[in-house]
Amino acid sequence: MSNKSLYERLGGYDAISAVANDLLPRLRNDPQLGRFWAHRGEDGIQREEQLLIDYLCASAGGPTYYRGRDMALAHRGMRITESDWNVFLGHAAATLAKFRVPETEQSEVVKFVQGLKKDIVE
Ligand code: HEM
Repeated sequence: MSNKSLYERLGGYDAISAVANDLLPRLRNDPQLGRFWAHRGEDGIQREEQLLIDYLCASAGGPTYYRGRDMALAHRGMRITESDWNVFLGHAAATLAKFRVPETEQSEVVKFVQGLKKDIVE
């Protein structure tokens, strides 16, 4: 067993930001999920991307400080459904597979994300 943080095992900041940069366009271009990003400006999208990177790094034990809102507050009122959530999980799995994230780390990430469902799905 390694006692390195998940952050380190994932490959640190650059690897995690590459994952976020791959995942977000998949979500925005998805026919079902695209509505959540319709008519948002580029700056807002970039800020969200950076917040996602900071959040993922901080949650994985990295040195970033997440200054965004908590998951419940950030998504409340968007009416994200169970079906949206399942589409999201499919994209997340595709991104993790693309970057060849090893199985142990992949399942840790998925477990962490699954734990957020109760805060995000309404
Ligand atoms: C179906 C799933 C999801 C959808 C449709 C979704 C959609 C969105 C949208 C549209 C925003 C922008 C909100 C705004 O600017 O007011 C946002 C913000 C954010 N989301 Fe999600 N999200 C989903 C799942 C997740 C998950 C699983 C995570 C964490 C791993 C996450 C992390 C964040 C973060 C960190 C922000 C920025 C919060 C802030 O502005 O303070 N989202 N999400």
